[in-house]
Amino acid sequence: MEWKLDRSSHKPMYRQIIEHMEYRISNGEYPPGSLLPSERVLAKELEVNRSTIVTAYEEMRASGLVTSKKGSGTRVSLFGQETEYNQLPDWDQYVIGGSLLPNAPLMRRIFKEARNEKVIDLATGELSPDLFPRAQVEERMRAASFTFQSGYEHQQGNLQLRETIASQLKRDRDIDTASSSVLITSGAQQALYLVIQCLLKPGDTVLIEDPSYCYSLPLFKSMGIKTCLLKADKHGINPDDIVAFHQKNKIRMIFLNPTFQNPTGVSLHPKRRKKLLEIAVEYGIPIIEDDPYTLTAFDTQAPPTLKSMDDYGVVLYISSLSKIVSSGLRIGWIVGPQPVISRLADVKQQIDFGHSIFSQWMANEVLTSPNFDEHIQALGSTLRRRRDAMIQALSDYLPNEVEFLVPKGGIHLWCRVKKRVSEWKLLEQAIDHGMIFMPGSALGSSEGYVRFTFGRTDETNIEEGIARFASALLFSK
Ligand SMILES: Cc1ncc(COP(=O)(O)O)c(C=O)c1O
Repeated sequence: MEWKLDRSSHKPMYRQIIEHMEYRISNGEYPPGSLLPSERVLAKELEVNRSTIVTAYEEMRASGLVTSKKGSGTRVSLFGQETEYNQLPDWDQYVIGGSLLPNAPLMRRIFKEARNEKVIDLATGELSPDLFPRAQVEERMRAASFTFQSGYEHQQGNLQLRETIASQLKRDRDIDTASSSVLITSGAQQALYLVIQCLLKPGDTVLIEDPSYCYSLPLFKSMGIKTCLLKADKHGINPDDIVAFHQKNKIRMIFLNPTFQNPTGVSLHPKRRKKLLEIAVEYGIPIIEDDPYTLTAFDTQAPPTLKSMDDYGVVLYISSLSKIVSSGLRIGWIVGPQPVISRLADVKQQIDFGHSIFSQWMANEVLTSPNFDEHIQALGSTLRRRRDAMIQALSDYLPNEVEFLVPKGGIHLWCRVKKRVSEWKLLEQAIDHGMIFMPGSALGSSEGYVRFTFGRTDETNIEEGIARFASALLFSK
């Protein structure tokens, strides 16, 4: 549980902070010689005045627990050990020295606020807990027998689950595949990670949509992969743009989320899908179809998946249960030619020795439950109601300030904000007003756009969240 100040306590706040910092030091979170958060950062983290932290640090200095040098911050004391600071490992240097880049500061700020119960979260791209088919799953779990197998699972994931996924892909998305061509991953995220790590190398150029979820992945940058941005309109990207890019940059791969795209909600037009596949075949460029949203269609039928139209095996298909059942289950999958799946499975084994058998078993129970279709229908109806509530709130509170496309599936609504304001300032204002949203630049677009997620909370909170955003916008310069 995250530590919080007890503001109703008789104990002064600075004293509570000292005790909290003593605890963090004694449990090894801050070893001897390590740097403590600056006064400004800690004040922000604990939501107190900077002067409260100044007092706490002064007392800690007076008691010998920490030392401060002008310009180099406050460090935990060495407690008389005969070691110089420069002989100790400098964890801060290690932390910035690894090969994987950290998430962007904007994203880290949002992740932190998403844990604050007082903040209405229209930023996190997931379903609210009430959309999990709890009753169905519990009933199924009571009836089913789970034989605990204590060893590692098959490299590609549990066979029964892969068979279930293969047959549902045929039924719901017209995709022909077999269990041997399916790899179970820790969400779609790990499937993307494996593709980037195993099938690309530094210096390669890939195409991604702009805006796009992929843009938010520092993985491309960490790996030294160049990204070219494909602009999209209300029918998705224009396949003709790919040829021009390829002639200039030799494109190694195309990453697309063609159905109810995150963040725009737009679906690639069926004619463009056909053209895109023709180009992929003609120029030998693989397509990564990232498709977590097809089953969330609520106003229209989802267009056919690229994979279902793929006669030559140019598409690697990724999906997951995160947007239809639960993001916490961490069940995703990737479908592709056997050599690719074997290569990815081999690396997945190096990373984590395969996926937890328990969540795979549970995923299989959910997918084979006789009520699964009913759940998907109910999910669609709820998402439609929430989408409508969001549109209503936008027209009530921001009638002339925003423009947006109406999504027909998925969980996001993409808005252009007409007033020119700094994204950081708007986000900070929104946090002060008790809500968070996803700023457009986190998803690739230049400033002036925001993404609101309507899957994460109910209609009342959606309305209140948009009302708070409207006030934040009013106060932003
Ligand atoms: C387009 C897209 N791909 C992949 C992911 C990752 O989802 P997960 O790893 O939870 O399956 C997301 C999550 O928001 C997404 O929107």
